[in-house]
This record gives sequence, structure tokens and C-alpha cells, in this order.
Amino acid sequence: MKILLVICAIALVVATCCAIGCIALSRRSTDATISPTAKIPGKAAVVYYSQSKVRNTATVAQWIAKHTGATLIELELAEPYPEPYSATLKAVGRDAEAGTLRALKNMPSLDEYDVVFLGSPIWYGTCALPVETFLKNNRLSGKVVAPFCTHGGGGAGRFAADIRQACPDAKVLDALVIRGSNQIERRMGLGVGLRHTEDDVVKWLNRIFNK
Ligand SMILES: Cc1cc2nc3c(=O)[nH]c(=O)nc-3n(C[C@H](O)[C@H](O)[C@H](O)COP(=O)(O)O)c2cc1C
Repeated sequence: MKILLVICAIALVVATCCAIGCIALSRRSTDATISPTAKIPGKAAVVYYSQSKVRNTATVAQWIAKHTGATLIELELAEPYPEPYSATLKAVGRDAEAGTLRALKNMPSLDEYDVVFLGSPIWYGTCALPVETFLKNNRLSGKVVAPFCTHGGGGAGRFAADIRQACPDAKVLDALVIRGSNQIERRMGLGVGLRHTEDDVVKWLNRIFNK
């Protein structure tokens, strides 16, 4: 009887994993068919940081660039955080506690851009520390800022409010919040395609630039 129960439990887990995998794959292969009718007010760049191996935020950044023609600028750390996830958590926790902001390898000049799509993974309910470093050095004054983030199921938290506060002289538009993968999903190799597609990005672009 005990053995039968164990076999049933294993079968259930395998079936659930297969179902999640199928949904993820079908979502991943979805192509956005709508195109933005909205007018982007000037030259645009997508400035983003992405930490994990599945690169959820980088994926969304690429979708935005694809539909807007914006220049992709990835923020990188001079001394990167370690992988895997548990090591990242520990190192970020230590930095957060000590108030340490690691230096960026690149501090892009955004003089030539009017619009900045600013992307970050959610770390402890707000933007990732490297994005905080970037904002400390560039308040994006006079620019149109379109923030976007990916999270592991906990939501965007204070992300939008914190970006607004960090860029008091920018026009900050409504944020795009994307449900990325969490630790379990990442172990299964499932990325951002699990919950969102390019369509969500295009709908957001249409919404914020049609106002
Ligand atoms: C240090 C750290 C803190 C995190 N904090 C949160 C959080 O507060 N809420 C949440 O939903 N996800 C949290 N996550 C998960 C990431 O936001 C999520 O996996 C994101 O999509 C990763 O994006 P990336 O692949 O571009 O790095 C955290 C991840 C790390 C590494």
C-alpha cells in the first residue's frame, strides 16, 4: 500500500512537471502579432541589468528593443555576483546589509537619448542593487523613463515608487511588471516565457505611448 502511494505521488509530480513544461514551451513559441501604433517620443535606449542564468530581464529588454528599435545597453558589474541562485542571494544579502553598491563596469552616457526603458529584476521588493548604482549616477533628468521589471512571484513591490523617487526630474511612465521564473522553475530550465509573451510588451508599449 505504501509503495503504491509513493508510485502515485511520483507519477503526479512527473505529470505536473510535463504539463508546466508544455505550457512553457507553447508560450515561448508565441510570436507577437500586434505592432505598436504608438509614437515613441524620440530616440530610445533600453538600459537593463539581468543576473540569473535564464536572463528574464534581458529577455524582456530584447523584446522591447525588437518592437521599438531602441539601443540595448546592459549594465554589468566590475565584480559580478556569483551564481547559482543561493550564492547570489548570500552575496547580495551581505552587500545590502553593509550598504555596499558594487561598481558598474560600464556607466553609459545617455545624452543622445530622449526615452529610457529601464529594466531590473526585483530584489527584495525593489530594483536590483546595480540598477540603484546606475540611478545614483544618472537621475535621467529631462528624459521619458519607462520602467520594467521581472520578479519571481512576489510582485513588483516598491519598484515603481522607488524609480519615481530616484528620477524626480524625469517623466516616469507606468511600469511593465513581468512574472519571471522562480528558483524551482529556474532549476527546471523554465524562463520568462512561462507567464508572459512579447504580446504583453507590445500591449504595454501601445498603452504608455498612446496616452
Ligand atoms: C537577490 C535576489 C532577490 C530577489 N528578491 C525577489 C523578491 O523580493 N521578489 C520576487 O518576486 N523575486 C525576487 N527574486 C527573483 C528575481 O526577481 C526573478 O527571478 C527575476 O526574474 C530574475 O531576473 P534575471 O533573470 O534578469 O536576473 C530575487 C532574486 C535575487 C537574486
